[in-house]
Amino acid sequence: MALFGKDETGSMELKKELLPRHVAIIMDGNGRWAQKRGMPRSFGHKAGVEALREIIRHSDHLGIEALTIYAFSTENWKRSAEEVGALMGLLLEYFTKELDELHREHVRIRIIGDIDDMPKGLEKQQQALYNAMERTKENTGLKLNIALNYGGRQEIVRAAKALARKAKDGEIDPAAIDMELFESELYTADLPEVDFMIRTSGEIRLSNFLLYQLAYAEFYQTDVLWPDFDKKAYDEALLAYTKRNRRFGGV
Ligand code: FPP
Repeated sequence: MALFGKDETGSMELKKELLPRHVAIIMDGNGRWAQKRGMPRSFGHKAGVEALREIIRHSDHLGIEALTIYAFSTENWKRSAEEVGALMGLLLEYFTKELDELHREHVRIRIIGDIDDMPKGLEKQQQALYNAMERTKENTGLKLNIALNYGGRQEIVRAAKALARKAKDGEIDPAAIDMELFESELYTADLPEVDFMIRTSGEIRLSNFLLYQLAYAEFYQTDVLWPDFDKKAYDEALLAYTKRNRRFGGV
């Protein structure tokens, strides 16, 4: 089997054919990373964006087809106004400053979550998000999905509602609703199954992330805090995945 993914340090050997097609990540630990340094939480989020940049680039380099990251949940609005403001500032900066490079790298950006229903005052962010999706929609490289104002339960309810509406309008027969049809109403409709879910910072929770899609995903958790999650840590996680024996309910 061909070896792939040896970086310049030669530290890791990954077999390309065993890599996950779709990786999901809960980027946790920014706040603790900052607190450990006596800095405000927003400092951790800023460092978190740097880590994200490296992980996106490395995913692309490894030929991973889809990467879905949890950037802001429907529950994150409960954080202090200062922290939410900092995160929204970073978001705007990211989608304006990074867009050219992502586009050049053929990354296709999709926002998953309810971005139409964001608090007032975030119109610039909404505009930047729609612009990023529109500009990159024909790209054929890494499918980068960013979960924003996202909740897994909300996504499932949204899909159920869409199907109910179609049934009511006579567009579909309720008896024809099966997994395939249901999945066509999820944000992840045309993406491959999520194979691998990474959560950093030692927490072992789903936190309302991709509840439907993670049905058969392999989980990986590491104590590394998100800002420290570099490509070496990512390679380690991917190597662990390649050694798993996935059974999908079989033996
Ligand atoms: C979890 O750490 C992290 C978040 C809630 C935000 C993640 C966001 C980014 C990495 C940057 C923004 C993203 C983009 C696309 C610009 P935490 O704050 O819950 O950390 P803690 O558990 O240590 O408190």
